[in-house]
Amino acid sequence: MDGLVDHHVSDESMLKVLFIGDVVGLPGTSYTTNVLKNLIPRLQPDLVIANGENAVHGRGLNRPASDALYDAGVEIITLGNHCWDQRELISLIDVDERIVRPANYPPGTPGRGYTLCRVLDVEVLVINLMGRTFLPALDCPFRAVDSILQEYEGISHVIVDMHAEATSEKLAMGWYLDGRVSAVIGTHTHVQTADERILPGGTAVLTDVGMTGPRDGILGMDRTLVTRRMVTQMPVRFEVASGARQFSAVMVQLDRQTGKALHIERIYISEH
Ligand SMILES: [Fe+2]
Ligand SMILES: [Fe+2]
Repeated sequence: MDGLVDHHVSDESMLKVLFIGDVVGLPGTSYTTNVLKNLIPRLQPDLVIANGENAVHGRGLNRPASDALYDAGVEIITLGNHCWDQRELISLIDVDERIVRPANYPPGTPGRGYTLCRVLDVEVLVINLMGRTFLPALDCPFRAVDSILQEYEGISHVIVDMHAEATSEKLAMGWYLDGRVSAVIGTHTHVQTADERILPGGTAVLTDVGMTGPRDGILGMDRTLVTRRMVTQMPVRFEVASGARQFSAVMVQLDRQTGKALHIERIYISEH
């Protein structure tokens, strides 16, 4: 927590959103629990969102993993390209409105691509999108977000999880939505970028929030197995790494009236 500035004191003119990057496996959910125990009282976020696409052994989400995140203090869970890796999610997502999968999956896909939640006296729309560069060719995320924003025209507090490989695609979404949403937070690469900023229209952008889980693996997976696949070019089944854990997140402070971003700050905490 060193270096984290304590200026998130309760202020009635603000709405504070804590967004946690891709939670990987049991090390990720358990460390989220440990860290949030201290961080929530200290930062007092009004809304806690986590990307949970890797929460079950690095692949997908199920009820024990989502419950672990809820128990830790997470209120909304977003997803990405791993969202159907646990078949159980197909039925779970239809009954749990706190779970959001990318909105640009084809029409008829189970679940929802956005969810509206009430935070204090404010309605906050959380949207999940997925990029198309080096990822499955879904529908256009730009057109998908346009139609959602058109449907929810009166909502001024909007958080977008842009799950994508390419920094360019995530930045393009940030600029495309500048002035129309509160924040565009990138996920998927598992490596936190240092480019957080607030665009001129009042939209906070971070290209990638990073990963929460084993620090010394490769993107959270056992580095020996990942390396072996790369070196031998043979199929190798990946497993979640063990050892020291890290927590990657971002705190965005919004104007409670207008939904514009006032401040964005990256958070990176590591065990040792
Ligand atoms: Fe991920
Ligand atoms: Fe992903």
